[in-house]
Amino acid sequence: MRRILEVNFALVVFLFISPLMAQDVEKGASLYKKCIVCHGKNGEGKRSQKAPRIGGQFDWYIYQQLKDIKSMVRKNDAMMPYVKNLSDQDFKDLSAYISSLK
Ligand code: HEC
Repeated sequence: MRRILEVNFALVVFLFISPLMAQDVEKGASLYKKCIVCHGKNGEGKRSQKAPRIGGQFDWYIYQQLKDIKSMVRKNDAMMPYVKNLSDQDFKDLSAYISSLK
C-alpha cells in the first residue's frame, strides 16, 4: 500500500512538472533559431564565425555567459545584437535547450 502511494506521488509530481519543463525547452528551441547562423543547428559551432561549440554544455554555464554578455561583463560584439533584447527567462529557456543538444 505504501509503495503504491509512493509511486502515485512520483507520478503526480512528474505529470505536474514535465509540461513546465517541456515548455521551457520548446521556447528555447524557437529562440535558438536565431543563433544557428553562428553556432550551428546542433550547437556544434562554426569556425568561419569564430563561434565556439555550445551544444551539450552545462546549462548553468551557458546561462551565466549569456547574462555576462548582455551586461557586457564579457565583451562579445558579435552576439550583442542577438542577446540585448532577450529576458532572463529567455536565457534560461535557451540554456535548457542548448544543453540538451548532442
Ligand atoms: C554573429 C554570430 C553569433 C550569433 C548570431 C550568436 N553567437 Fe554566441 N558566440 C559567438 C562568438 C564569436 C562567441 C565567442 C566570443 C568570445 O570569444 O568570447 C560566442 C559565444 C557564445 C557563448 C559562450 C560559449 C563559451 O564556451 O563560453 C554562448 C553560451 C553563446 N555564444 C550562445 C549564443 C546564443 C544562445 C545565441 C543566440 C541568442 C548566440 N550565441 C548567437 C557568435 C555568435
